[in-house]
Amino acid sequence: MRRLHDRVAVVTGGGSGIGLATVRRFAAEGATVVVADIDAETGAAAAAAVGGRYVPVDVTDEAQVESLFQTVVDAYGGLDIAFNNAGISPPEDDSILLTDIDAWRRVQEVNLTSVYLCSKFAIRHMLERGTGSVINTASFVAVMGAASSQISYTASKGGVLAMSRELGVQFARNGIRVNALCPGPVNTPLLRDLFAANPEQAARRLVHVPLGRFAEPEEIAAAVAFLASDDASFITASQFLVDGGIAGAYVTPL
Ligand SMILES: NC(=O)c1ccc[n+]([C@@H]2O[C@H](COP(=O)([O-])OP(=O)(O)OC[C@H]3O[C@@H](n4cnc5c(N)ncnc54)[C@H](O)[C@@H]3O)[C@@H](O)[C@H]2O)c1
Repeated sequence: MRRLHDRVAVVTGGGSGIGLATVRRFAAEGATVVVADIDAETGAAAAAAVGGRYVPVDVTDEAQVESLFQTVVDAYGGLDIAFNNAGISPPEDDSILLTDIDAWRRVQEVNLTSVYLCSKFAIRHMLERGTGSVINTASFVAVMGAASSQISYTASKGGVLAMSRELGVQFARNGIRVNALCPGPVNTPLLRDLFAANPEQAARRLVHVPLGRFAEPEEIAAAVAFLASDDASFITASQFLVDGGIAGAYVTPL
């Protein structure tokens, strides 16, 4: 499928995991892809692999985010797709009883403030042409509670979900769609590191997945490509769950 032919897409956190799989999928569907990542090595490699462009950016820095989207518009004449996906899940973000204020703030900055900044500057450019698709990465933990808590992460993703819904409603008649992607657990470095540190937690979580496994990054990328494309032309302000059935489950199969 070449649904994204002639489209210009920015992927934050495009150097790894869900972002990297989406960079590949967007390119395979014909898009020009800009990889925005704080990690120059993986970011540049991801861009080079698809004939795209790497822009170094810390998504928590307003000036850098503004410059990212201006660079893209200057280079390609416009912006069609913003996949605001960079995020962190550090071990020091834990139970509310253990998480100190610095860990709380860092996660809010990288996971939530970044989405505010990226959405703001992407939408400004999209308004000029009256078209665009913004996809913000939230998580299934934005809609469900976990006893194995990462309190700031969960709160940040709840913020991404609510903000994306509001933006989707506000800009619906300007031709701009905004959706919150809510992945279930995905087989990426972020999750592998978390579970390597605590295998018991990994086993406990798998029980809750009706499909009986974690997602592969390519399965999430397929959903992102759909939301980015005109196939999703009537989908905005949505809570787009790609979670193997977790959020719908009461009792899972044995
Ligand atoms: N992996 C999962 O199970 C899962 C589930 C639900 C949601 N998510 C969300 O999906 C997104 C991607 O997760 P992933 O598993 O692919 O993670 P990952 O760690 O594999 O990739 C994250 C990327 O973001 C980049 N990044 C981190 N901080 C940055 C910053 N300040 N500025 C720019 N880039 C930065 C990293 O360099 C990395 O390339 C995150 O928002 C995460 O919260 C992941």
